[in-house]
Amino acid sequence: MTVSLQDPKHTMAPQKTVSIETYGCQMNVADSEDMLAALCDEYTLSTSAEKSDLVILNTCHIREKAYHKVVSRLGKLRLLKEKHHKLRIVVAGCVAQAEGKKMLRSLPMIDIIVGPGRIHDLKTLLKDHERYKTPQLAIGFPKKTTPTTDTQETQEPQTKLHLHPGKNPVSRFVTIQSGCDNYCTFCVVPHTRGHEISVKQEDVHKKVQSMLARGAQEIFLLGQNVNSYGADLLREGIIQASKNGPFYDLLTSLLKIDHHFRLRFTTSNPHDFTYPLSQLFRHHQRLGKYYHLPVQSGSAHILQAMKRKVTPSEYMEKISWLRESIKDMAISTDIIVGFPGESDDDFDATYAMVQEVQYSFIYAFRYSPRNHTPAKRFAHQVDEDIKAKRLLALQQLQDSITCKLNEKEIGQTREVLFLYPSSKEKHAYYGRTEHFRLVKVVSPKQPLTGKILPVNIIKASKTTLEAQLLST
Ligand code: SAH
Ligand code: F3S
Repeated sequence: MTVSLQDPKHTMAPQKTVSIETYGCQMNVADSEDMLAALCDEYTLSTSAEKSDLVILNTCHIREKAYHKVVSRLGKLRLLKEKHHKLRIVVAGCVAQAEGKKMLRSLPMIDIIVGPGRIHDLKTLLKDHERYKTPQLAIGFPKKTTPTTDTQETQEPQTKLHLHPGKNPVSRFVTIQSGCDNYCTFCVVPHTRGHEISVKQEDVHKKVQSMLARGAQEIFLLGQNVNSYGADLLREGIIQASKNGPFYDLLTSLLKIDHHFRLRFTTSNPHDFTYPLSQLFRHHQRLGKYYHLPVQSGSAHILQAMKRKVTPSEYMEKISWLRESIKDMAISTDIIVGFPGESDDDFDATYAMVQEVQYSFIYAFRYSPRNHTPAKRFAHQVDEDIKAKRLLALQQLQDSITCKLNEKEIGQTREVLFLYPSSKEKHAYYGRTEHFRLVKVVSPKQPLTGKILPVNIIKASKTTLEAQLLST
């Protein structure tokens, strides 16, 4: 998915072209934007690898499939490089961090490997590559909190090159924390993204304000575990916090900004999700009526083996806090099926939980053994065909719940933030409700992108609601 986003104000367009392909989570999307921002003086954004002098693959390592995708894409880029010798290939992201050294040895088409902790070195790496004509490798992480105070990083650059292809200025990501200190036994993230490092509150503010000034209507705060935001800053004596903790303080300060916008945040490890935080939704429309709370499993002993640090009943209590705050709170989750040792009974507990919570949607995955993680070495690995059956059963259950919940929307009035026009249907626009449901509206009279408007829901399918604008 690539679109041209050249800034018309940019009179002297740089000669070289860059394209970026982003895999995986929103964090990678945010990193891609930062890399493009750093390159905007020298490169224009290209629509495809074929038309580029520089291709960046920003990769994901969370499951094995994601890794294979990158290797197969590199195979295609190798053929391209044979025709276009000046093409430079950068592998960034979590695969770069975890497999970078090995890849440089076995995949000679790669020019630069840059891990998520080193993306700000990309420009220097390109220069060094040019000068020394040798592959460059930059992986690893800063040892301790080095909060940014550099305005370059907290303010938007003057061109739109930083906007990730396919993204628009309406909904933007702001990374408030990198890394993760949780070490869930299945997860490679602490190994590929390092320790938790939080961005100081004033720097988050600068970035948010700068995005709002440039037309953003929705801000997504990003971290692997946003609820533990600031724990490192507290530890190092860089900040003080109220009794509700630094993330609560950050949110309440952002809620005071005098501007009409939506504020969302993801992802939350339920372990650190607190009651006061859940009650913020009740008082602040800006936070919407949707929350993503990854559970992973409904079985007590699997959660323990995963080191999730919550029991199923503690998790359910947190769900009840959210629904005490907002009665019809839409909730989504992540689930792993086939974790080592998962019995039929364990899976049934997960199935029952999905039925009980009535999630608006779920991301369900088969367990994928990852290097460096303890679970890879656990006994009783589950057969792939059992994983596949369980995944299918769960997805079928969730599909029926999603359809039922979406049908209940028909006849409701909802407030929609319109995000982008349809690429297929004339005059159609897509947006999201307070509950984060995707809505399509046909509007021949006025463009809707960037507007927040009330609509009446008239039709529902599993993936999309259809609506009409309410005359205001
Ligand atoms: N920080 C988030 C998770 C980030 S990783 C949290 O606390 O839950 C995103 C999702 O990928 C996880 O929630 C999990 O469901 C999935 N995932 C991570 N490692 C996995 C693995 N080894 N196999 C399958 N799914 C995995
Ligand atoms: Fe992964 Fe657990 Fe952190 S799922 S990102 S180690 S909270």
